[in-house]
Amino acid sequence: MNHHDINLTAAQVDKLGKAYDPLDHDVKQDPYPYYAKLRRDEPVKWIEGLQAFAVSRYDDVDIVLKDASIFSSAQFWPALLGEFDPVPEVPPMISMDPPNHMQLRKLVNRAFLPTQVNALQQRSADIANQLIDDLVAKYGAEGKCDWVWDFTSLYPVTVISEVLGVPSERRAEFKVWVDDVLGAANRAAYGPERLAEIRKSSDAVRAFFEELYDQRSANPGSDMISTLIQAEVDGTRLTRIEVIQMAILLLIGGVETTTNLLGSALVEFSRRPEVYARVRNDPALIPAFIEELLRFNPTVQMIFRHTTRDTELSGVHMPKGSAVMVLLASANRDETRFDDSESFDLDRKPSAPLMSFGQGPHFCLGKYLSLMETRSALETAFKRFETLASVSEEVEWIDSYFARGPHKLPVHYKVR
Ligand code: HEM
Repeated sequence: MNHHDINLTAAQVDKLGKAYDPLDHDVKQDPYPYYAKLRRDEPVKWIEGLQAFAVSRYDDVDIVLKDASIFSSAQFWPALLGEFDPVPEVPPMISMDPPNHMQLRKLVNRAFLPTQVNALQQRSADIANQLIDDLVAKYGAEGKCDWVWDFTSLYPVTVISEVLGVPSERRAEFKVWVDDVLGAANRAAYGPERLAEIRKSSDAVRAFFEELYDQRSANPGSDMISTLIQAEVDGTRLTRIEVIQMAILLLIGGVETTTNLLGSALVEFSRRPEVYARVRNDPALIPAFIEELLRFNPTVQMIFRHTTRDTELSGVHMPKGSAVMVLLASANRDETRFDDSESFDLDRKPSAPLMSFGQGPHFCLGKYLSLMETRSALETAFKRFETLASVSEEVEWIDSYFARGPHKLPVHYKVR
């Protein structure tokens, strides 16, 4: 018997009144039963709304991510951002295939290794403490705030700005630019006003890094932009435009993802008081909690590839040039790979590598950084807050089919 016949959410799945449509509001609020249905009934399914094949089973996702010769990343950025790519002249490495991709990746890899990242730990904790001080100054030692607005949306952008060497007075604008540029992914649904804002942010982020490049090439420092300007691979240096594209990729990659993860952390805590109590009482459990959170509700739900030739997956023919939606979040719940896959289990020892950070050549560069940041923020929050609890179990998730995190999260807090 095929494992996909035994589905823990069979009853839930059979009750679904409609087919998986990533653009549908209900699906965006809770995509998981739809993923379960896809895995069971249509593991490779053509999705009209996004004009792409959705791939939902773990083994198929693994094949797609590891075979760049058939499943290319070259169209990833153009498909995601369209005419709103701030640097359309050169692709960012996330949208390059081997071997050129590897050259570029080598240049930045070193800065993101665990040893480099650990050196940022104290600074991350300081930033978290500062944000909590600001929040207390604003609302008092006990009260209500929005965990997303007042904390999670400010914290990763501040850490990554520090890595890039961005002057602190400019950081407030950053979050808006990143949100707007990533918002271009939903451009089909927007009217002229929203599109004009996105255009403005796309131009602004580019202008900002052009200026920073010129300053740093005249006066190099120890920041990452200076390092990128000076770095050499096989005797060649990055051009000005390549450095700017890389800086923008690091900013875009490093901000919304970690913001959403920290938001989702509090959502899970509020839904699972017993888990919350255990983790609070024993902060050594924070990494296990983050790992299970990343499996259970990953902040990047899917990524995209395009076929370089006719191919077949789970018996479905995909013509050359097809867009492929790789459902990472579905793979993480594949019942053939994870026991009791639809349950959140703090004691789980993952039986297969998670897909949350991708797999293969483009495996997330910022994995250690985001894990360190998230751990540091939760540790700091546990130290500072006697109470930190979501006010309601109901969550409004951000209106996106590929990014997942709470749009806002009212919390009640009390500092020690
Ligand atoms: C919870 C946090 C994060 C998640 C879930 C996440 C997820 C991912 C995923 C799924 C990919 C693979 C994309 C693909 O295969 O096409 C990726 C790539 C990437 N991520 Fe992350 N990411 C996170 C945090 C970060 C941070 C903090 C940075 C920091 C700078 C970062 C930078 C990048 C970059 C540069 C790539 C492209 C790597 C390449 O093309 O070789 N990410 N990330």
